Amino acid sequence: MKIMPRNLAVFITVGAFLIAITCAEDPYRFFEWNVTYGDIYPLGVRQQGILINGKFPGPDIYSVTNDNLIINVFNSLDEPFLISWNGIQQRRNSFEDGVLGTTCPIPPGKNFTYILQVKDQIGSFYYFPSLAFHKAAGGFGGIRILSRPRIPVPFDEPADDFTVLIGDWYKSNHTALKAILDRGHKLRNPDGILINGRGPNVTSFTVQKGKTYRLRISNVGLQNSLNFRIQNHRMKLVEVEGTHTVQQMYSSLDIHCGQSYSVLITADQSDRDYYIVVSSRFTNPILATTGVLHYSNSASKVSGPIPGGPTIQVDWSLNQARSISKLAYSANLKVSLIYNLVRTNLTASGPRPNPQGSYHYGMINTTRTIIIQSSAAQVNKKQRYGLNSVSFKPTDTPLKLADYFNIGGVFRVGSISDKPTGGGLYLDTAVMGADYRTFVEIVFQNPEDIVMSYHLDGYQFFVVGMDGGVWSKGSRNVYNLRDGVARSTIQVYPKSWSAIYVPLDNVGMWNLRTEFWARQYLGQQFYLRVYTNSGSIRDEFPIPKNARLCGKASGQHTRPL
Ligand SMILES: *[C@@H]1O[C@H](CO)[C@@H](O)[C@H](O)[C@H]1NC(C)=O
Ligand SMILES: *[C@@H]1O[C@H](CO)[C@@H](O)[C@H](O)[C@H]1NC(C)=O
Ligand SMILES: *[C@@H]1O[C@H](CO)[C@@H](O)[C@H](O)[C@H]1NC(C)=O
Ligand SMILES: *[C@@H]1O[C@H](CO)[C@@H](O)[C@H](O)[C@H]1NC(C)=O
Ligand SMILES: *[C@@H]1O[C@H](CO)[C@@H](O)[C@H](O)[C@H]1NC(C)=O
Ligand SMILES: *[C@@H]1O[C@H](CO)[C@@H](O)[C@H](O)[C@H]1NC(C)=O
Repeated sequence: MKIMPRNLAVFITVGAFLIAITCAEDPYRFFEWNVTYGDIYPLGVRQQGILINGKFPGPDIYSVTNDNLIINVFNSLDEPFLISWNGIQQRRNSFEDGVLGTTCPIPPGKNFTYILQVKDQIGSFYYFPSLAFHKAAGGFGGIRILSRPRIPVPFDEPADDFTVLIGDWYKSNHTALKAILDRGHKLRNPDGILINGRGPNVTSFTVQKGKTYRLRISNVGLQNSLNFRIQNHRMKLVEVEGTHTVQQMYSSLDIHCGQSYSVLITADQSDRDYYIVVSSRFTNPILATTGVLHYSNSASKVSGPIPGGPTIQVDWSLNQARSISKLAYSANLKVSLIYNLVRTNLTASGPRPNPQGSYHYGMINTTRTIIIQSSAAQVNKKQRYGLNSVSFKPTDTPLKLADYFNIGGVFRVGSISDKPTGGGLYLDTAVMGADYRTFVEIVFQNPEDIVMSYHLDGYQFFVVGMDGGVWSKGSRNVYNLRDGVARSTIQVYPKSWSAIYVPLDNVGMWNLRTEFWARQYLGQQFYLRVYTNSGSIRDEFPIPKNARLCGKASGQHTRPL
């Protein structure tokens, strides 16, 4: 049981309700969102979409580092609903994370006010509906966190700044897809690709010749890695999930599920329209869609061949001298080389004026190595997916609430092991324990033939290495301990591994999941319980006063006596 010293609990009145422990000096932004069903036709057929304030995709959230975001979400669907915030760290406050392990669902006809602070963050992220298979129906949107006015940004202010949400898409509505998964079957491949919720040739971005624009591209899709490119234009990568990168030019960029990238493009071609192309990577057949980059004085429509996708990346191989790792990637059909080049610009600032390289993650010794291996199997004659042989079984009581109120019988710390066990897949409510302020190495081992993508809530971690084959201690010799990028979603190539370093400086119950959404739904996730017994609000906020209570937590009180 956590004892909250009463005199430390500071409450500030905002609107009609009380908000625990926010920083009074940081600005507030208020949002009121009505979540409804509505007909959408992104691929030409009518579907049941999930709209936010009538929009699909939902509205963008604009914010500045340290802003408090007060988002009152009204659930006008006929089933429970939750929104989660991909890449927003919610420091000391996993109660607001909006996943089933931390937050009670918003019942139909009810509302819940999320109280977030984008503390010490900059960059490009997105929100999405985390329950059931809602993500296949919309309910997602962009989140951008701008630097505070006097913090230098390592590039000139762009003429405009566009959110570009790309993702694969099914023509079926989410209830039909969920029913297939509930029956224990796999889903067939998606039907197409959307750009900002629209199918081929619809989405258009208007630019003026000679000016430079920022595109914040997030893959909000369900399973496919996507390649993004613009006819006759190159892109300068400047930011990855909150880190300013070494700025490099790309003619095309792979964006794996759940990942976000910012690029700058300069409208330096003649006045006409150009294709924007998004196509699936490593799939057979390839799914593709197009949008339009429209010059404001354009004299002609898009023309010429649609630019082809990457085979062997010339841009990338040219830079191999500076690459952090070289991967042998064997797809079903062909072998290609991929160079993972994304690096941090150590002299650029992040949310604060000091250089991003001032935190020397490579000088800190890790205290623990966790190896996570995916697997897929039938359990009780139904398709399931797991990590280290455990397929996650959700509970009615959010794990965070069970922990906070000290309710037994909901989960067991240590119900997933630190290393692959080699055993068969089984169901459990997987929770891994970890001590606050330890520094851990996590290796994702992918024995399968598909690209995996993993996301950790509550954190930005350092990407230290990737390579083909099976990870071993010797693999540390290829680690980048200098300028690996800090981000929250990492890809793992087929029959390969990716390694990250995580400073566990955020107490809470944090979801680690695959971004392959059907697999996530069928158990490929667990919770990392980052724990301290200090009981201090310096380490973790108390439960929000407006928290919804459900399951075995129903009879509890949010303000401790
Ligand atoms: C949400 O939208 C629905 C449909 O337009 C409407 O009936 C309902 O009153 C709205 N709820 C709120 C809280 O605005
Ligand atoms: C879901 O999709 C099916 C098949 O297209 C359709 O018949 C049904 O009306 C849809 N459901 C809703 C609630 O829109
Ligand atoms: C629901 O919305 C009302 C304002 O319309 C607000 O006072 C109340 O706190 C919200 N409920 C929750 C649980 O956040
Ligand atoms: C790194 O950031 C610095 C400081 O803003 C900037 O001057 C420099 O151009 C950037 N370098 C690269 C390679 O991105
Ligand atoms: C998109 O536009 C291109 C060029 O006009 C055309 O070839 C293609 O068929 C269009 N696709 C769709 C689905 O309309
Ligand atoms: C890390 O471990 C090495 C080898 O055990 C040791 O020599 C070094 O002092 C440690 N570094 C720090 C910062 O603790």
